[in-house]
Amino acid sequence: MLPAVYPAISPQDILINLRLLSFLRLCRLGLIIMATEIPLYREPVETVPADPVDRVIRYHVQTKHHFNRYARALGYLDWANQPDPFRRFEGAPIISLPLLKPDEDPVSPAYDAIYQPGAVVCQPVTVRTLSRFFEFALALSAWKKAGESEWPLRSNPSSGNLHPTEGYVVMPQIEGLDFKPGLYHYAPKEHGLELRAEFPAEQIARLLAPFPPSAFLFGLTSVHWREAWKYGERAFRYCNHDVGHAIGSTRISAATLGWKMALLDGTSQETVALLLGTNRVDDFAGVESEHPDCLAVIWPLPDVKSETLDVKCGKQREIPLFIDPGVVKEVAECTWYGKANRLSGEHGVEWEIIDEAAVVSWKSSCEHISVAAPTSDTSHVSPFTFHGAPAGQIIRQRRSAVSFDGKTSISAATFFRMMERVMPRADRLQLDRPMPWDVWPYEPAIHLLIFVHRVEGLVPGLYFLVRDPKKLSPIQHSMNSELTWSSTPNCPEDLSLYWLLEGDAKKLAVQVSCHQDIAGDSAFSFGMLAEFEGRLREGGAWWYPRLFWESGLLGQVLYLEAEAAGVRATGIGCFFDDPVHEIVSVKGLSFQSLYHFTIGGPVEDGRLMTLPPYGHR
Ligand SMILES: Cc1cc2nc3c(=O)[nH]c(=O)nc-3n(C[C@H](O)[C@H](O)[C@H](O)COP(=O)(O)O)c2cc1C
Repeated sequence: MLPAVYPAISPQDILINLRLLSFLRLCRLGLIIMATEIPLYREPVETVPADPVDRVIRYHVQTKHHFNRYARALGYLDWANQPDPFRRFEGAPIISLPLLKPDEDPVSPAYDAIYQPGAVVCQPVTVRTLSRFFEFALALSAWKKAGESEWPLRSNPSSGNLHPTEGYVVMPQIEGLDFKPGLYHYAPKEHGLELRAEFPAEQIARLLAPFPPSAFLFGLTSVHWREAWKYGERAFRYCNHDVGHAIGSTRISAATLGWKMALLDGTSQETVALLLGTNRVDDFAGVESEHPDCLAVIWPLPDVKSETLDVKCGKQREIPLFIDPGVVKEVAECTWYGKANRLSGEHGVEWEIIDEAAVVSWKSSCEHISVAAPTSDTSHVSPFTFHGAPAGQIIRQRRSAVSFDGKTSISAATFFRMMERVMPRADRLQLDRPMPWDVWPYEPAIHLLIFVHRVEGLVPGLYFLVRDPKKLSPIQHSMNSELTWSSTPNCPEDLSLYWLLEGDAKKLAVQVSCHQDIAGDSAFSFGMLAEFEGRLREGGAWWYPRLFWESGLLGQVLYLEAEAAGVRATGIGCFFDDPVHEIVSVKGLSFQSLYHFTIGGPVEDGRLMTLPPYGHR
């Protein structure tokens, strides 16, 4: 698994490619240090720290990829034990959701409309709207075929297409919805809902009483084994990226129906486990467990002029970001259905460090926090204002590019719009922030170190997007003091995008992205730098997965933005961690790159056939 050539970029290349002296100085500080100080492989020291934050940092450090050593994995693919990407609960009754054609109701609004508060007509919760909701959030989007092999793709992307993420809903009794109140597991291959538990209607009504009318709960879990099978120890990171992508695909799907969503992250993980049934030992006996990740509330946002809102939802209403653990305990004492299927015949190696990371980053606390109900949807914009492609079309066509043409450029305006979409506007009240950042109950922790290759009107080089403008100073102090933080020419005023260095960063981007050409043949690529050690020490080890969720959520926004702009994106989980940090001389563990991403003109693989997602149903 060692990379064949080191360094792939020579000092000679740097001299040819880079124009500014400061960039050269930086490369001397960064790349040439990398060339002479190749990190040596050492067996990890076995003294285990007691503090959960130290332990989660230990996981992070141990699972870095280095130029001369990748994080530990099997080193080959154990095809005989490839995990089944589809969890089913044998014995659980399943409701088939209707397969809806794009032009059948509910018809998706224009893609641009979902970003405009008040522009999407709010749909009631019915079996058809739930079908659309799951279609855009977690369903199959196509099958790919090459020779005899066929594999499905989904609305949400996943590292290695392994799909560790499972989705659940907790449905109350809703008028017009002929579902038993209870917990349902979403089965993507069937596009159906498996009834895992029948909850008494009055108790579930009590659980959901603090939320707006017709609210329901949505939960995500991860089967770590699915990713660990291929990626070994680094898999806990990838599972959490995927959770972030799924939060994004779900939030965006809800937006197409005029629904709101907020993470109920004040809830403890014990309560999430109890509600989603992942703690039910007998139901998972002898099979791969599911890690309870998060819970969210989703609700239709009624027309502000309607009486329903005034009477039931009230403008002053506070929405709690937790659920009552006492009621969950009562609710969970009910009839459960189904036993989880086994996903792999055998597990060659169990990656204990993943279980350790999951345990130490477990969130036991419950915070009784609430947020003000949204106010920004007061002006209804006519849906006819928007002319672009429907959101559904963009969501269905989303794919990861397997290679880029090395030619296509995007305009500066397109680039700036993409950057605008990932600005969370954290100075606003949470539920008034732009979608999908209204789902996220925290201040942003992720900032972008951008390699601009082909953006018309922008000089190629290194740029930096500060997603929370008040963090500019700490970010600058954590990095090389020689960097020039110039404002980016013609950049919109409200976008804190800085130009650090001029130069051709294509080879550099490829080199640090595990030598993947997709990082250099695109229009631009970037590393997502997370506020790291400070956040963990301040907030606790349970912040570790959340940093990855935020990066995945950001990636999901840009996957769709790329499609809307006529180009394509790919997430990059494989990168050499510390060489990325050395580019800007990040101090210690203050910032860590958690995820890379690339956007450009794709090259289609003509050998692959695309088949419809539900031809098998
Ligand atoms: C967290 C994450 C990491 C990924 N890392 C890489 C990568 O390093 N290289 C790559 O070519 N694709 C990468 N991908 C793209 C996946 O391979 C792709 O999402 C998957 O094959 C499913 O295809 P789709 O995105 O077209 O649905 C990554 C995707 C995710 C979500």
